[in-house]
Amino acid sequence: MTRAVCPGSFDPVTHGHLDVIERTSRMVDYVVVAVGTNISKNALFTPDERVEMLAEECADWTNVEVTLFRGLLVDFCTANDIDVISKGLRATDFGYELQMAQMNRQLTGVDTLFLPTAPEWAYVSSSLVREVATLGGDVRPFLPTKIAARTMAKVASRHAGAADDM
Ligand code: PNS
Repeated sequence: MTRAVCPGSFDPVTHGHLDVIERTSRMVDYVVVAVGTNISKNALFTPDERVEMLAEECADWTNVEVTLFRGLLVDFCTANDIDVISKGLRATDFGYELQMAQMNRQLTGVDTLFLPTAPEWAYVSSSLVREVATLGGDVRPFLPTKIAARTMAKVASRHAGAADDM
């Protein structure tokens, strides 16, 4: 039985992420979607909120579970009997993703499978979505309907909080 992990920050989960999770779920027996905290990024949603949103979006895929992880991804893989890391790859990610894949393989031998991002989502990233949403743009084309609504609500509540502080 082959078990894959789809790791990411998923802040928020986009159509591009879901496409990669779904394609992975058709190639392996079981997929663990692991929500990590990228320490270099400014988070919009809490890790628990991201797990909750992902679990709802992945609910129809019976061989997919969603969980939180902390620490090194390779340690999560060892502890959860993960055979392979599955990641979507955009042209802009290549250098950094290759470096992470090689580091992870060096650490414990776990390998990474790269799936080319679907062309229709190739320009979408969570960080750009956060920026567009924060500056008042429409992020509905890039996100599942409920995630877009929650993203816009979260941004609005942040703006309201910032106005209260003034
Ligand atoms: O969606 P992201 O932000 O590209 O996800 C990045 C993530 C969380 C998958 C990556 O930062 C990660 O694997 N973090 C865990 C810490 C770790 O293992 N660091 C060493 C990577 S070689």
